[in-house]
Amino acid sequence: MKKMIVFNHKMSLLYDEVYNYITRTNNLDTDCNIIICPSNIYLELFTNNSEWSIGAQNMYYNIDENHTGEISSLQLKALGVEYVIVGHNERIVDFNESGRIINLKLIEALDANIFPILCFGEDADEDYREKLPQLLDSYLKDILNIDFITFAYEPIYAIGTGVHPSTDKIKEIISFVSNYLEVKYHKKPNLIYGGSVTSSNIYDIINIDGINGVIVGKISSDIREVEKIINNI
Ligand code: 13P
Repeated sequence: MKKMIVFNHKMSLLYDEVYNYITRTNNLDTDCNIIICPSNIYLELFTNNSEWSIGAQNMYYNIDENHTGEISSLQLKALGVEYVIVGHNERIVDFNESGRIINLKLIEALDANIFPILCFGEDADEDYREKLPQLLDSYLKDILNIDFITFAYEPIYAIGTGVHPSTDKIKEIISFVSNYLEVKYHKKPNLIYGGSVTSSNIYDIINIDGINGVIVGKISSDIREVEKIINNI
């Protein structure tokens, strides 16, 4: 299976920087499956011009049109968007997204044949053995098949901080989550890691047993960093 690299641009890049980013990422030579998740306002530029798969950073769970400011699965699908990030901690903090809302978005993405990238993680003072099963159970309510979901383990304290767990710790938690989901769904989950991934630590992280890829935040819109990341895998 190809390793997956998700670039979550968050709110970065200005309009006049986007073409250069697309041109340079199109020139990257890699065996990895790259998924670029730009700001919504650039989605069409990317789906029309990028050679890589494109994901949205968010999506509404309702397809009824009367939701000002939101974007539906139908609109994403019509643009050629293949993936959507669901449950990112920044949305939980900024918009109070509950487990139920994350669950509804997940269900809608699966119904619309958009691959969800489901983020989940614990904070530094929380015990992952307690927190993660609860979190995953609430996100996965009524979902019987996890084949099309990518599970992005993002410890909250590692997002945008430059601090990340040791590779041994990541391996321990990934193995715990993988076993938990495998027992429940009789299927090995597709697990990736996110949180302070850089060109210097990506090689060690992506080669941890049980990890199929990474999700990169802050540096993912810096084209020189992206080139280094690809070279260092
Ligand atoms: P950073 O890579 O900036 O820590 O962000 C991680 C992240 O939030 C990816 O979704």
